[in-house]
Amino acid sequence: MTEPAKAKVEMEKLVSLCRRRGFIFPSSEIYGGLSSCWDYGPLGVELKRNIKDAWWRAMVQQRDDMVGLDSSILMHPRTWEASGHVQGFSDPLVECKSCHLRWRSDELESDKCPECGGELTEPRLFNLMFKTFMGPVEDDTSVVYLRPETAQGMFVNFENILNTTRKRLPFGIAQVGKSFRNEVTTGNFIFRSREFEQMEIEFFVRPGTDQKWFDYWVEERINWYEGLGIKRENLKLRPHEKEELAHYARACSDINYLFPMGWAELEGIANRGDFDLVQHASSSGKGLSYYDEEAKEHIVPYIIEPSAGVDRTFLALLCDAYDEDEAEGEKRVLLHLHPDLAPIKAAVLPLSRKEHLASFAREIYADLRKRWMVGYDDAQSIGRRYRRQDEIGTPFCVTVDFESLEDKQVTIRERDSLRQIRVPIDSLKATLQAKLGGEDLFVLPDGGKIWKK
Ligand code: GAP
Repeated sequence: MTEPAKAKVEMEKLVSLCRRRGFIFPSSEIYGGLSSCWDYGPLGVELKRNIKDAWWRAMVQQRDDMVGLDSSILMHPRTWEASGHVQGFSDPLVECKSCHLRWRSDELESDKCPECGGELTEPRLFNLMFKTFMGPVEDDTSVVYLRPETAQGMFVNFENILNTTRKRLPFGIAQVGKSFRNEVTTGNFIFRSREFEQMEIEFFVRPGTDQKWFDYWVEERINWYEGLGIKRENLKLRPHEKEELAHYARACSDINYLFPMGWAELEGIANRGDFDLVQHASSSGKGLSYYDEEAKEHIVPYIIEPSAGVDRTFLALLCDAYDEDEAEGEKRVLLHLHPDLAPIKAAVLPLSRKEHLASFAREIYADLRKRWMVGYDDAQSIGRRYRRQDEIGTPFCVTVDFESLEDKQVTIRERDSLRQIRVPIDSLKATLQAKLGGEDLFVLPDGGKIWKK
């Protein structure tokens, strides 16, 4: 397979689209923004929810070897001592003696400041965890951390899950939630931020079967991205060298994506061995083991961890979906988003604002909204309205014209192919349901026809 050298779309175009159409805004923008924090706007929040829902459906709902969890962000501070984060979750930080910009020394290509060429300080280790205080007194005994990963909530609940679900090995715990890291170098839009969301799985297996499950999860996760429309040539597996493995990992492979700034990590899949359960057992004094009925002995399971970032998946999906072409004689920007992910599934467009047509169209709109996020747009020409929907990835437009009042039919236009059909309003919901599920547009319901202008 030949790898593309460069992503198809530049970051500026995505940032501009996200800003213009209300996907993503800088956090607290009216105060000048807060570095590397982002707010997801009306369309962004829908896309983000759809990503998390798609992950949950595939990883939890549709599997009988997985259960979900929503553990708290603040955890007992000893969690982070046992996990190794207090001691080891640091980046080497250097500061320029002239312009005072700070850099991660492990990411620099020379020993001079990349900004001004100035001399740099000696590296010092900088812990990435955000600290805060619990209760009214701010002293060393009240320090708590904002979690830098959701994973630890799943390890410390291992026994609770075993006792309440009676799951047998192999099985997993899945969780989606916010994580916080006081990153030294940020940037590239939402790729690396200080507050972000993760979708993590801790999959518990018998020692000795860990390699098999590691391979299984690598494939499973690549298939998940592909199933949502990400092109295979934009995904690449990067196994870690021994020297770069995290302190807890026996093996790790990153699924990299060809972002506009180059290949970079989308998801990490690690074989954590028994590190976490052993650490938490010895730190808490609780026996975190599993009674193996077959072998009649207690074992400490190994853990395979597929750990994905919601925001990076969001960015990868946008990059992959972004396209520019010509439609109906005009240039258009469009997002080829998978229907499951599209923020708006269909838009109702009345050809005129005249009252009798508008109220008729609004009834259709109200009915469709019972099932999906649906848009309604009656401003400007129909061509402009199609363009607006294409740009946010709406898979179908439902056009209501004066004839609709007579024949009780509407036109459905498909975003990618621009093909149209006309269907009875009675079968509109069922038709949209089928098309959103992947049925070809030209498979027609009773009374439907292919529509040509
Ligand atoms: N529990 C393992 C763990 O957290 P990680 O490789 O540090 O592993 C997993 O993070 C995923 O979380 C990354 O692949 C990435 O998608 C996402 N992630 C990590 N740091 C991030 C940041 N600062 N901003 C956005 N996403 C981040």
